[in-house]
Amino acid sequence: MFRPFADWVASTSLSQTFQNHLWVVPTSQAIHIVCICVLFTSALMINLRLLGVGASGRSISQLTENLVPWMWRALGVLLLTGTVQTIAEPVRQFVTPVFWAKMAMIAMVATMTVAFARKVRADAARWDAAGTRPSAARAFAVGSSLLWIAIIVCGRFIAYTSAFYT
Ligand code: HEM
Repeated sequence: MFRPFADWVASTSLSQTFQNHLWVVPTSQAIHIVCICVLFTSALMINLRLLGVGASGRSISQLTENLVPWMWRALGVLLLTGTVQTIAEPVRQFVTPVFWAKMAMIAMVATMTVAFARKVRADAARWDAAGTRPSAARAFAVGSSLLWIAIIVCGRFIAYTSAFYT
C-alpha cells in the first residue's frame, strides 16, 4: 500500500544524498542504539522502582523528575536518526507491518509516559508513600516495560521481515 510513496521518497535528492554517502546510515544507527540504551535504562529504573525492586535511595517522584526528561531527549534523537534511516531506505521500512507496529507502540507508550509523569507531579506524596502506591503504578510499570521491549524487538525485526514484502 505504501510502496508508491516509498519509491517516491527513495527518488528524492535528499534520499539519494543519504544513499550515496555510505557513512550516513551506520552512523545514524549507532546513535540510534546509544539513545535506545539511555531511554530503556531510564524507563527500567523508574519501572523497577514502581514495582519495589532494586535500589530505594531515590523516591518515585525524584526518579521521575530526573529521568523522564532524559527519556524525552533520547526519544527526540531517536526520532531524528530514525527519520534519517527511513529517508535513506524508505522501501525497507514502509513495506513491513513491523515498522508500523513499532510506530504505533511508540505513540502509545509515549502517551502513557506523559500521563504517568503528570500524575506523579500532581500527587508526589501519595506516589512516594510505599504503602499507598496506586495499583495503577504497577500496571503502568509492567505495561510500559513490555511495550519498550516489543519496540526494540520490532526495531530489529524490520531488517528481517522487509524481504517478505518486497
Ligand atoms: C521515534 C521514532 C523512531 C523511528 C522513526 C525509528 C526508525 C528506525 C529505523 C528506520 C530503523 C532501521 C531499521 C532497519 O532498516 O533495519 C530502526 C532501527 C531500530 N530501532 Fe528505531 N525508530 C524510532 C524509535 C525507536 C525506539 C523508541 C526504539 C526502542 C526503544 C527503537 C529501537 C530500534 C532498534 C532496536 C533498531 C535496530 C537497530 C539495529 O539493529 O541497528 N527505535 N529504527
